[in-house]
Amino acid sequence: MTKKEVLERIQQLKKERNAIILAHNYQLPEVQDVADYIGDSLGLSQTAAAAEAQVIVFCGVHFMAETASILAPQKTVILPEIGAGCPMADMITASELVEWKKNYPGRKVVCYVNTTAEVKAECDICCTSSNAVRVVNSVDEEEILFVPDKNLAAYIARKTNKKIIAWDGYCYIHNKILPKDIRERKALYPQAEVWAHPECRPEVIDLADKVLSTGKMVKEASETSKKEVIIATEAGIIYRLKKENPNKNFYPAKDLALCSNMKKINLRKVLTSLEKMIYKIEVPQEIGQRARGAIEKMVKI
Ligand code: 13P
Ligand code: SF4
Repeated sequence: MTKKEVLERIQQLKKERNAIILAHNYQLPEVQDVADYIGDSLGLSQTAAAAEAQVIVFCGVHFMAETASILAPQKTVILPEIGAGCPMADMITASELVEWKKNYPGRKVVCYVNTTAEVKAECDICCTSSNAVRVVNSVDEEEILFVPDKNLAAYIARKTNKKIIAWDGYCYIHNKILPKDIRERKALYPQAEVWAHPECRPEVIDLADKVLSTGKMVKEASETSKKEVIIATEAGIIYRLKKENPNKNFYPAKDLALCSNMKKINLRKVLTSLEKMIYKIEVPQEIGQRARGAIEKMVKI
């Protein structure tokens, strides 16, 4: 099949199945190009819940499709590649969290959306990279447990007066970006601003002009008067930034900051997922209900 034929078949199946294609900002260009909506993890889940379509083809990683399924349990959510996981989300299990909580009786737990449904079910409130500080400030406690990202926790701690006790998790992609990478890029592009994702190390955050979720990077890119920006996050987002802002230059802080899980989905797999309706992401009802409580509290904020 030629690429043109694949694209035509995808469009035909979308109609037949009443499906919509959602893609995260880190997805391959060919997947972003076929998507009906591209966004960050929160935006994608909310779009899935609000969509009229019955089938959601979710091009991202497993926890994101799970979150969409929790928010839209009456819809069919399919992840075109079942092996597309998030290593950071897998750094804590529900039983590990239950054990850890015993050391801090009565403390509230905030979980990053990059967690499994089972972990969310054990937490009080969820947050994303775009609302983490607001969510933590909304919790009526001085000392808060935070899972799983220690870098995001360190960023929040700088922005609040609360004491944050963090799980020792991190994103290995964002952790690859080092202060020397930023300095080298700054030497090449001295006029450029630096925007960093809050999953970056604190030493990288120190060198950033702005700290933004991927969704906020996309928004800021269209609004900024800056013509050059160094982007400290997964390099796949550069494609969208350049496509939507052809008169501005975006440089990845590190070319090799690529999430292999995000790149497991391609156009062919999108087609196969629609043909065979695989892989359905379903969350057991009891876990889904408890996880939904933590997500809905966040949405209210
Ligand atoms: P965003 O919600 O900012 O898109 O981040 C998701 C993620 O996995 C970043 O690595
Ligand atoms: Fe997970 Fe990091 Fe990949 Fe985001 S970039 S999906 S946090 S491994």
